[in-house]
Amino acid sequence: FFFLPADFVKSATNMDMIPDNTLIPEVAFIGRSNIGKSSLINGLVNRNGLVKTSSKPGHTRMMNFFKVGDKLSLVDMPGYGWKSRDEWGGMILDYLKTRKNLRRIYILVDPSHGLKESDQQIMKLLDSSGLSYQVVLTKIDRLSKTKFSAAKAEIEAELVKDAICCFPMVLGVSSKNKDGLDVLRAAIVKAGQL
Ligand code: GTP
Ligand code: MG
Repeated sequence: FFFLPADFVKSATNMDMIPDNTLIPEVAFIGRSNIGKSSLINGLVNRNGLVKTSSKPGHTRMMNFFKVGDKLSLVDMPGYGWKSRDEWGGMILDYLKTRKNLRRIYILVDPSHGLKESDQQIMKLLDSSGLSYQVVLTKIDRLSKTKFSAAKAEIEAELVKDAICCFPMVLGVSSKNKDGLDVLRAAIVKAGQL
């Protein structure tokens, strides 16, 4: 299914510009700047260069919509930490709270840094709006298996304590060596009930 052709649909900076393809299930990728959101979308659709990535934080500045065939919509977001919280909040929270076909939000987290204040804040907001989300640890090629397992266990323990609408399975991916992408694809397909 993820081998259907993937395409760019549209960029948006406000709700008026969002594509009205609300019959297609949608998932969105959020997280701190430079965490690997854009690279992950390229990895998932197996098309390097579909989404522009950069080693400089703050590269993605708009909400960018992509589609996989006519079956699934993927949204790449600007990182938080680049825009001021209010700016980030204004544009993206509107979208997250009102988008009818949004099936799950993927929060990308660096396993070597763990959950940051900004991640906790956004999770609280998602909890208070009843929005389903799941944590994905990125760039796991940089960690030993032991360190990754320890980081994952620590994050899962924090989520069990605090998070309400969090899907209770933390995933790990590497867009660089394509680790964990199949498991994430399967989770997305299930979230979208495709
Ligand atoms: P913003 O758009 O600025 O919010 O960043 P982003 O979250 O979209 O990150 P992006 O995908 O542009 O990647 C940031 C940097 O991390 C780039 O230099 C990528 O090459 C690198 N990167 C992304 N994924 C991986 C990975 O799985 N492993 C490694 N080692 N590096 C990665
Ligand atoms: Mg980006």
